[in-house]
Amino acid sequence: MSLPYVPRVTATVDLSAIRHNLARVREIAPQSQVMAAIKADAYGHGAVPVARALAAAGVDALAVACLEEALVLRDAAIATPIALLEGVLSLAEARLAVSQDLQIVVHAPWQLQLLQQLPPQTPLQLWFKLDSGMHRLGFPVSAAAALFEMLKANPAWQFHGWITHLACADEADNPMTSVQISAFETALKNLAGPRSIANSAGLLAWPQARVDWVRPGLMLYGASPLPDKTGSDLGLRPAMRVESRLIAIQDLAAGESVGYGATFRATEPMRIGVVAVGYADGIHRMLPSGAPVLVDGVRVPVIGRVSMDMISIDLGALPQAQINDAVRLWGEGLPVEEVAKWAGTLAYELFCGLTNRVHLLHS
Ligand SMILES: Cc1ncc(COP(=O)(O)O)c(C=O)c1O
Repeated sequence: MSLPYVPRVTATVDLSAIRHNLARVREIAPQSQVMAAIKADAYGHGAVPVARALAAAGVDALAVACLEEALVLRDAAIATPIALLEGVLSLAEARLAVSQDLQIVVHAPWQLQLLQQLPPQTPLQLWFKLDSGMHRLGFPVSAAAALFEMLKANPAWQFHGWITHLACADEADNPMTSVQISAFETALKNLAGPRSIANSAGLLAWPQARVDWVRPGLMLYGASPLPDKTGSDLGLRPAMRVESRLIAIQDLAAGESVGYGATFRATEPMRIGVVAVGYADGIHRMLPSGAPVLVDGVRVPVIGRVSMDMISIDLGALPQAQINDAVRLWGEGLPVEEVAKWAGTLAYELFCGLTNRVHLLHS
């Protein structure tokens, strides 16, 4: 469909990169089934197109945070199994989850009590989440045997397995991951049911976490969850590139400043560009002077503060730059992990922080 305007900021998602990254997960954890985390609109990549691409590539299940996110997928006729990682919040949600063939992750006694109010023949599809040490969601590991008894008492319930979540899997020398895995495995020693432990960092860095199911999110989008490695070090392909364009070029004299707060001041005559992208698009306001953007394949630095709709860049290295030139904020040639580091955050937050003013395109 042709637009009556030029899209100001675009996030272009290469679905073949996402399929490649799924294949990479399969290579690393060949014995595991894959539940792809596509919550938060597939980390800003567009849940429906990403789910379709993953489904076509044979993903075993999808994971979203909540019912609302799952309904978007079912409305788009995505029939792949879907798990609700935070479970359901009401009886009405539980009934909808059943009618929409959704798997519910049950993480607390109050959720169990809610589900027990449904008629006993209700074909609930359940995962039980155990808290192996992160202390966010989950039953204490000591509750596993009692939960298992409950399954036996409710034959209509379809049990998908046991989940736990790792707090520090991105830290190679942190003993907490082994402690968590061992607490989970010990609690389940004599209990049947598939196990699921690993997020991206878990499955990349901790072979013991590659059990029946893995739950990668970030790595499917081509970014590395490990601080000392890039996506390409891990054999991943970045799926997203974010681009805007130059809308002004200025010549500054020595001593002149740029942007709000006049935080950047030219020490010599310089040529600068103004790019039509800002924090209202999801460019982190903490991105400092010096952080790179890519113009015509050349890295040039941001100068001055990020404002709502614009950033400024130093065009000293690009005498040929012109109005309308594309400026890449991250993507091929400029890893999102690197940009995140400059902004003092993570690739997760940059992806999820893109706003609806950004045109999401899929190729
Ligand atoms: C329970 C659970 N599993 C898996 C994931 C995927 O994590 P990652 O994106 O780090 O692979 C998440 C994301 O936060 C999660 O909350």
